[in-house]
Amino acid sequence: MARRLCLITGASAGIGAEFARQYAAFGWDLALTARRTERLEALAQELESAHGISAITIAEDLAKPEAVDAILAALEAKGRHVDALVNNAGYGLPGTFFNTSWEEQADFIRVLYTAPVELAHKVLPGMAERGYGRIINVASLAGYAAGSAGHTLYGSVKAAMIKFTESLNAECAATGQTDIHCTALCPGFTWSEFHDVNGTREDTNKMPKWMWMEAAPVVKAGIDAVNRGQPVVVPGSANKALATLTRILPESLGRAMVSAQSKRYRRMDT
Ligand SMILES: NC(=O)c1ccc[n+]([C@@H]2O[C@H](COP(=O)([O-])OP(=O)(O)OC[C@H]3O[C@@H](n4cnc5c(N)ncnc54)[C@H](OP(=O)(O)O)[C@@H]3O)[C@@H](O)[C@H]2O)c1
Repeated sequence: MARRLCLITGASAGIGAEFARQYAAFGWDLALTARRTERLEALAQELESAHGISAITIAEDLAKPEAVDAILAALEAKGRHVDALVNNAGYGLPGTFFNTSWEEQADFIRVLYTAPVELAHKVLPGMAERGYGRIINVASLAGYAAGSAGHTLYGSVKAAMIKFTESLNAECAATGQTDIHCTALCPGFTWSEFHDVNGTREDTNKMPKWMWMEAAPVVKAGIDAVNRGQPVVVPGSANKALATLTRILPESLGRAMVSAQSKRYRRMDT
């Protein structure tokens, strides 16, 4: 019998690469996608020899409208289907809304929201037919916090990802899909290449160490949550406390706190 397969977007680095490591350790086959082919191939080879699994690599840019169909066609050509989907690819777009081009904003929405939603929409019918599926949407603690200046769409896209996942998980249960679960994973600061890519490494390194997590426990929290059917998970006790604060503080106070903190790591200079 073929092993289960997990499709992971943004698998060439950080949290996505860690998802690949953990699913490979469970003995699952992998479909790894991102833009950097060499990174994907090196990870695929490492995990194939370490765990005896099979890893397919698919180089695609999720900002391209045809990317989702191309990824699914590549899997279909190999006779494989998706048992678990990890919508993880993402980045931060520094600067203010009016100083970034519409093309940059549109690409951002596509990579962080439209493509993940499209992937979920296109793999769910097969999951329903087979009666099994797992979807982890990597959102962020920023999806809970008040909006702040700079990186304008990041918080709103992540908030939308949380709501979408909650609805989808509820729909699966309401339609009798008892073994299809969807989880929004909401990390706080996590060690990865994220802050190097968006140019905020110097500033974020000044954030207190208790605010940071390694990718491994973040990913484990996501996998454990989806397996028990939990729609949203915030990994780590510090992040959980911050998420709770965002709910209990008066809105104006929450906004003032987020605004003061985010000035320390959100770039406004582009
Ligand atoms: N690190 C944090 O503090 C943190 C906190 C909360 C949430 N998150 C979320 O966690 C997720 C993973 O981020 P990370 O921290 O692991 O960052 P990362 O180390 O920079 O990895 C980002 C991944 O996304 C891929 N990616 C970026 N743009 C892409 C595109 N246009 N098409 C396809 N793939 C693309 C990158 O691959 P290529 O460059 O090879 O395409 C890379 O594999 C993101 O959704 C992020 O918003 C991160």
